[in-house]
Amino acid sequence: MSGYRIAIVGATGLVGQTLLQVLADYRLPLAELVPLAREGQGRRVRFGNEELAVEPLDAMDWRRVEVAFFAAGNPVSEAYVPEALRHQVTVIDKSSRWRMDPEIPLVVPQVNRHAIGDAPLIASPNCSTIQLVIALAPIYRRYGLKRVIVSTYQSVSGTGREAVVELEEEIRAHVEGKTYAPQVYPVPIAQNVLAYCDAFGEQDYTGEEWKLMRETPKILGTPVRLSATAVRVPVQVGHAESVYLETERPWALDEIRDLLQHSPAIRVVDDPGAGLVPTPLDAAGQDDVLVGRLRRDPYEANGLHMFVVADNLRRGAATNAIDIMLAIADRWNLGG
Ligand SMILES: NC(=O)c1ccc[n+]([C@@H]2O[C@H](COP(=O)([O-])OP(=O)(O)OC[C@H]3O[C@@H](n4cnc5c(N)ncnc54)[C@H](OP(=O)(O)O)[C@@H]3O)[C@@H](O)[C@H]2O)c1
Repeated sequence: MSGYRIAIVGATGLVGQTLLQVLADYRLPLAELVPLAREGQGRRVRFGNEELAVEPLDAMDWRRVEVAFFAAGNPVSEAYVPEALRHQVTVIDKSSRWRMDPEIPLVVPQVNRHAIGDAPLIASPNCSTIQLVIALAPIYRRYGLKRVIVSTYQSVSGTGREAVVELEEEIRAHVEGKTYAPQVYPVPIAQNVLAYCDAFGEQDYTGEEWKLMRETPKILGTPVRLSATAVRVPVQVGHAESVYLETERPWALDEIRDLLQHSPAIRVVDDPGAGLVPTPLDAAGQDDVLVGRLRRDPYEANGLHMFVVADNLRRGAATNAIDIMLAIADRWNLGG
């Protein structure tokens, strides 16, 4: 059978299962699809109407596939990506292990597909970075960027499957008047907002904030004076971002709206009078980056505010990774 020969590392996780979902949605020709996790042991994952048997990663014969998506965290990528590369497998890595390595392309195909070249290992950015650069890139290219300030409102699925369970159980406990001891986050996330998404690092910014601040310039290919505050909110799927930016050159609001509307992977949802503003519920389960609340800053002539929302598991992870594969599809002879 002709078609792609694909392995998904971390197929039982949130991103891995979303990769399976997006692959099924895209209806790509597949000759081999190998779902990998820590253990097989009779576990199965859904792929369209089928169920596939999960296989243990440490027994993988890499000669079976030509492309591998890694979605199992940094230690797994660190341990197994070199082995896959040795077998001439093209690796699209969702972990942050090589994102800032100058030798490794960090790619959002709608923005910098040219960066891929013939690289055997391609890094896919952090979820909150992907939706941000998709919205920033067209504005940067036409008007230049002087300054960007981002505050995120990130869903718990960005942390992984255990955080989704924790939110559900905390909500249930709250409704039933019971107590629930958080395991994933240091304090309850239900009925709460956490002004940090992960560990604090340099200059009291968190790791998630540094990812936004460092990955964005690498993808846009220009230094960007970007500062971020990344916040966790009790939403299951869909990251939202309040973005303030100042451009080098002047613009009219209608031009910005038109530019974004005609840019890849963006849907402008911007009619607040009619109740049309981007929300995580609207973003969940689809691939567009929703952009709205477009307005000029009252004090800064070239200052623009916007609200950017996307499904972090699809656009922020699985869909971007699959779009990378499609951008280099001519590497593989799919046999027509
Ligand atoms: N969630 C997001 O929005 C998002 C967005 C962008 C990037 N990412 C990145 O994607 C990766 C996965 O995130 P996730 O949210 O899907 O996590 P998750 O739901 O916690 O799933 C983790 C997956 O990794 C597998 N795994 C863990 N240790 C393993 C090992 N030693 N050997 C083989 N498989 C192992 C797990 O398999 P078992 O079932 O066998 O434990 C599971 O399939 C992470 O690098 C994350 O940073 C996540």
